[in-house]
Amino acid sequence: MANTWDELIQEIKSRLDIVEVVSEQVVLKKRGNTYWGLCPFHKDKHPSFAVTPSMGIYKCFSCGEAGDAIKFIMKTKNMDFKDVIIELADKFGLEVPKSHKTDGSTKELKDNMLMATTVAAEFYHDLLLREKSDNAKMALDYLTKRGIGTDIIKKFHIGVAPKSYSTLYDELRKDFSNEVLEKAGLILKSEKGGFIDRFRGRIIIPIQNENGEFVAFGARALEEGQAPKYLNSSDSLIYNKSRLLYGLYTAKEAIRKEDAVILMEGYFDVISSQAHGIENCVASCGTSLTAEHVRLLSRYTKSRRIYLSFDTDSAGQKATARGASVIKEVFEGLGDIKQFDESYVATNNDKYSCEIRVIAPPEGKDPDEFVRSVGAEAYKMYIENAPLFIDFRIDSILKQKDNYKTPQERAQYISSIIPVLCEIKNTIIRAEYIESVSQVLGIDSSVIKSEVESYERANSPKPERIVKNVTKSNSILQKAQKNLLSVFLVPDNHFSFAQINEMMSDVAFDDKILIIVKSTIDKSICTVNNVKELIEHLYTEFVDNAEAQALLPELIEHAQSYRGLSDEEFENAIHEMIAKINKCKHIEEAKNNKELYKGIDDNDPEALKLQIQLRDKLKKIRQKSEMN
Ligand code: GTP
Ligand code: MN
Repeated sequence: MANTWDELIQEIKSRLDIVEVVSEQVVLKKRGNTYWGLCPFHKDKHPSFAVTPSMGIYKCFSCGEAGDAIKFIMKTKNMDFKDVIIELADKFGLEVPKSHKTDGSTKELKDNMLMATTVAAEFYHDLLLREKSDNAKMALDYLTKRGIGTDIIKKFHIGVAPKSYSTLYDELRKDFSNEVLEKAGLILKSEKGGFIDRFRGRIIIPIQNENGEFVAFGARALEEGQAPKYLNSSDSLIYNKSRLLYGLYTAKEAIRKEDAVILMEGYFDVISSQAHGIENCVASCGTSLTAEHVRLLSRYTKSRRIYLSFDTDSAGQKATARGASVIKEVFEGLGDIKQFDESYVATNNDKYSCEIRVIAPPEGKDPDEFVRSVGAEAYKMYIENAPLFIDFRIDSILKQKDNYKTPQERAQYISSIIPVLCEIKNTIIRAEYIESVSQVLGIDSSVIKSEVESYERANSPKPERIVKNVTKSNSILQKAQKNLLSVFLVPDNHFSFAQINEMMSDVAFDDKILIIVKSTIDKSICTVNNVKELIEHLYTEFVDNAEAQALLPELIEHAQSYRGLSDEEFENAIHEMIAKINKCKHIEEAKNNKELYKGIDDNDPEALKLQIQLRDKLKKIRQKSEMN
């Protein structure tokens, strides 16, 4: 147990897991010993944010932000060091030394808000269960009609708010200040200057955060014509709609177990489904799906299998498309999104950054109604056979084919399927899809194929193909040199930096960036003690050199392949790389000379002399490269 402030910091540091901390905000994908994701500190399109658990650090190789778990929390939550430590101490149940206890105003306010919300939840629940309020009977009848019995009421702590103006306020004002109750969103200032209950004459659905604490309410109208249908708590110090998913607390074990999560639209969809044994489902609370929701979920499902189970009406369809695009954005750059139930493409799940499926029973009901009227078993069948998002989209378009009759209408309609087909990158699978789509639509597949191809041309970024071809041989050499440089960054070898430097003393790096990196390494190795420090140091050195900075993750990653080698193997690996570099260089040189040789003008009086010189040079090079 920590006694002093420093001990407390140490204790907290030892308990923090950098991957866990960062994962709260960033979706990470493991590659080797490093986790990669999109940087939360700048607009990142390709994952340049690296988390190295063995060193307990994160680092963005694009914008430069770096630090440990505590710094990450400070930056992302905009808190100072002391507040982070105090918050974490609270989370881990550690005592904060008296000397460092703050007046705690925010923390105390938050605690009181949590407490007031919990007491309110219990109060509303009790009114319903014991039929203590005048509308309790009506609420119970309503819930019964919706298939919600006592067990479910208890499991979800459902309650009822009486119609009168201050039932809750009168009860809670004894123990909580107006400030706490108002900030928790339980009461509102009335026009007369006093306070009234925020929720009146409604079914109360308490909202729990991930840890099971009551933080807010969703309140459904109980009577016909009562508006709005749902009244939700506003965001507060303890509740942020865009980061919280209803039902997650009760669903998380099931999400882990099934390695999948079902996203629904409404509170009652989740309540009915979970009550009927479909436990891995959650819903957003009266707001559309956000990237933060998706990040939150990605921490619970390894394979990131996400089912969208929204209403099947056109609003629901839009929500499905929107949801899918939020999901795609979050996983962008972390790998392919699973698009095929392939049997003939060998893959492993790990290859995919996520998998989006759609549950859309043709009966057209929301999950709540479906589960109650058709049954949970039937719903499970739909889960099992849920199409991948791409199939769902293609099918939904194909289903409408009879609505378009004239050639003009049909042309426009058919053009809506082209971008979807274009998303299929595997050419064989794309061809299969084109074939089946053209059959359904009664159009020659070559027509669709050429439409897809021209759409793709028009929408793909301009390739830098020409440049690539010219530098191809060059890039092999460059790659070999990069690989060689990466040996400085192998964490567990037994050679000193000076020894490694000695081993490659004969190699001349000839790429501009590699020269800079190598010379910076040369300068750094006297001052740093280990690989971790070297990486930190290089990183700082290259703050203003984006190109050099961008090279670092590549070197770090490649360095992982030299881990666990014996001293002898390590040395051999270096020698082999040097030999490869030399060979590449000789080939390069020979090629250049050949060009020169061919380009010599025979009428030039100096030609003969030059030809002889070159022939000798070529011969020497050939001998040298054969030796290697
Ligand atoms: P039931 O009619 O109770 O079955 O609700 P539902 O969940 O089927 O309703 P709907 O599809 O209309 O709404 C889905 C979700 O949107 C609800 O669970 C609420 O979170 C939210 N919502 C619906 N109506 C309102 C409203 O009037 N105001 C707000 N803020 N949110 C609403
Ligand atoms: Mn409903």
